[in-house]
Amino acid sequence: MAIQKVKNNIFSIGSKHWDRRLFDELIPLPDGTTYNSYLVEGSEKIALIDTVDPENLEDLFENLKNHNVTKIDYIIANHAEQDHSGGIPAVLAKYPEAKVVTNEKCKKMLIDLLNISEDKFQVVTDEEKLSLGDTTLQFFLIPWVHWPETMVTYLKEDSILFSCDFLGSHFTSSELFVKDEVKVYQSAKRYYAEIMMPFRKKIIGNLEKIEKLKIDMIAPSHGQVYDNPKMILDAYKDWTSDNVKNEVVIPYVSMHGSTKKMVEYLTDALIKRDIVVKPFNLTVTDIGELAIELVDAATIVIGSPTVLTGPHPSVVYAAALANALRPKAKFATVIGSFGWGGKMVEKIVGMLNNLKVELLSTLIVKGYPKENDFHALDNLADEILKKHRSLNL
Ligand code: FEO
Repeated sequence: MAIQKVKNNIFSIGSKHWDRRLFDELIPLPDGTTYNSYLVEGSEKIALIDTVDPENLEDLFENLKNHNVTKIDYIIANHAEQDHSGGIPAVLAKYPEAKVVTNEKCKKMLIDLLNISEDKFQVVTDEEKLSLGDTTLQFFLIPWVHWPETMVTYLKEDSILFSCDFLGSHFTSSELFVKDEVKVYQSAKRYYAEIMMPFRKKIIGNLEKIEKLKIDMIAPSHGQVYDNPKMILDAYKDWTSDNVKNEVVIPYVSMHGSTKKMVEYLTDALIKRDIVVKPFNLTVTDIGELAIELVDAATIVIGSPTVLTGPHPSVVYAAALANALRPKAKFATVIGSFGWGGKMVEKIVGMLNNLKVELLSTLIVKGYPKENDFHALDNLADEILKKHRSLNL
């Protein structure tokens, strides 16, 4: 990746991972990702803000060489996860005079994860400043976006917030700054849904904390740099708010067509009631698309056939994921079918204990749905409409 100038004495020197398609062996990355590392050259000291995933270290070192960086005074570690911190041991080996600047919690994690020696650290506290001469860095602890040790770095003179994971996106482009806000919005929403959403309440507090700063630019460690920070800050305020939208998400699996027929009927019934509905056949869906829809939906309807007395394993996976992501949905239910018996509904409901939802009427059909089952699905659509209206949706 080429070196790109952010502003004045600030350069983006990380790596673009164009063809990465999976993160944490779980999260699909349709647009790849980047590991942004920023070099800030003050009049007296030089700081490197975050490093890169160890797999892409070569890019970082090539950029350091091409930029003739012979000395690094500080390596700022905003976050201990290895896609940003994993390059620190190699950078320390090349620049042994550098100190790793981070908070106490992150320091402990970096020692555990990367075996960095304790004497390499310079610990900072919340709001502490670090002078680079004519440039000042200030650190703000923002725990739980998405690990407990996370912090951001604020460059006072240029009003730039280096936010690491926070406000980022798995989006790869040759352009440094956000140009296509619609595309980046969607990518950032996917990213929020997949790793930030479980910490929604904590993020609200962290947003309030950083919004006290004058921010002209947000430079995250994944994705492009926001020169219109309002776009992403407004999006986060919307996603983290308690407000849900007049939307129903239906993750489902069907083996012989019964559950599919029910889902199709319910989808049409909801459309007739002017409710936005998104069915996801879990056998073909990108799980990230499902996560995006979970950000705003008021209601989740899970559809499953009965397999060996329980839910279909793909539904178990989706229910476990939804439970872990803790979307702000207010209502949920289960529909599906069975051949000879089982406890499919109870098992799915038992998996959703993290969700603060009111359980609506469930509907389980023996075999293929019949007239009275379609009538029950109409009733369920009416019930969903009534519940949404109770929230003024
Ligand atoms: Fe991009 Fe939490 O690491």
